Amino acid sequence: MLRQAIRALAEDKIAPRAAEVDRTGEFPWDVYQALVEADMHAIHIPEEYGGAGGDALAAVIVIEEVARACASTSLIPAVNKLGTVPLLLSGSEELKQRYLPPVARGEAMFSYALSEPEAGSDAAAMRTTAVRDGDHYVLNGTKRWITNAGVSTYYTVMAVTEPGAGARGISAFVVEKDDPGFSVGAPEKKLGIKGSPTCELYFDDCRIPAWRMIGEPGTGFKTALATLDHTRITIAAQAIGIAQGALDYALGYVKERKQFGKAIAEFQGVQFMLADMAMKLEAARQLTYAAAARSERAMRGEKVEDLTFFSSAAKCAASDAAMEITTDAVQLLGGYGYTNDFPVERMMRDAKITQIYEGTNQIQRMVMARQLLK
Ligand code: CAA
Ligand code: FAD
Repeated sequence: MLRQAIRALAEDKIAPRAAEVDRTGEFPWDVYQALVEADMHAIHIPEEYGGAGGDALAAVIVIEEVARACASTSLIPAVNKLGTVPLLLSGSEELKQRYLPPVARGEAMFSYALSEPEAGSDAAAMRTTAVRDGDHYVLNGTKRWITNAGVSTYYTVMAVTEPGAGARGISAFVVEKDDPGFSVGAPEKKLGIKGSPTCELYFDDCRIPAWRMIGEPGTGFKTALATLDHTRITIAAQAIGIAQGALDYALGYVKERKQFGKAIAEFQGVQFMLADMAMKLEAARQLTYAAAARSERAMRGEKVEDLTFFSSAAKCAASDAAMEITTDAVQLLGGYGYTNDFPVERMMRDAKITQIYEGTNQIQRMVMARQLLK
């Protein structure tokens, strides 16, 4: 029922805007409102904080179906989850009560700021500092590549509170868009997901109250990585959604397009490509759902030893599959596929980011190998 509901919304309100959102690079506020009205913009927020209380699989299904229509828009539910999971995992009750209900009501979005210009894969090498000053912390530094920066009201920000202590010297904070000393840079000009702004964040003696720290001092990096254990699964969902969109479009096209006097779908060379695309997609989807089941059990407090492996494996497998499937979809449309008169070139451009963000696929392989070898 959830899939039917979100697919209907995606076909009615999201798909018709996708090409324009890609062309203009504008954040689709009208689509955001449609998601809010359907309670699909942050379905993971628990009922006690005013949310829809969707489990991890529900979030995956929403993101998958939205991404099937528009990858940029699927970052609304995905990044709302990414920004708020640190609070759900480690935040005080006060922080949760204050910051989750506005997100649930659709009055605010939440971004997640880990990466920096000199600290991407090696996230623990971050340089942004947070220095205690009485009842406040004062933040200085730059975050880079922050999804939905500028449209989000709240930001989970990781910063060094104990220089020299490495990963154990990092703490997490909530920063609000109007905090003094906080500002957002110009949007990056990107290959894909153009309707989702990606910007730098600047902290210039940014003063925030000390109670905005998420968890204890020095636990911010662990919270950041524990969050990614849950949210890399949402990027897997985005990838399989994009791939499904491309496969569906290609399936329709090959039945219509005629060459050598028949529909190209009748050629075995085309059929085998379709079969491989669908096989890779379904394998990635099942791995993603298996990861989502583990994520949900962990969110409910169960110790789930293999969550880290499954989360990285799902993200890596689904994003690699999405890149292959969208590239094959362009191939199946021939020259037409290479033009922006058809949606598959957009899907191919959008798919690429899923191999890069929330940790590149080399980093996912490193994480998986560490789990295997430990
Ligand atoms: N959960 C909780 N804690 C964890 C953890 C996990 N999954 N993995 C490691 N830790 C803990 C470790 O136990 C260790 O703590 P102790 O010292 O107390 O034991 C600490 O974290 C540091 O661990 P490592 O020594 O393994 O850390 P590392 O420096 O070698 O780096 C890494 C680990 C896996 C490479 C990590 O830096 C990483 O994932 N890098 C990729 C960055 C990334 O994914 N960025 C995503 C940005 S968000 C984004 O991109 C959003 C978007 O697009 C929409
Ligand atoms: P680098 O770390 O410099 O990597 C360059 C290359 O080296 C990659 O191929 C990488 O895999 C490889 N490499 C690095 N280390 C190793 C290793 N040990 N072994 C093998 N290969 C290695 N970050 C956030 O915090 N929040 C966000 O909301 C967010 N959104 C993003 C949105 C977009 C559109 C983009 C492009 C990025 C976003 N990111 C975000 C940042 C993203 O997570 C990083 O770009 C990513 O983690 C890689 O870091 P980097 O770009 O610095 O690449």
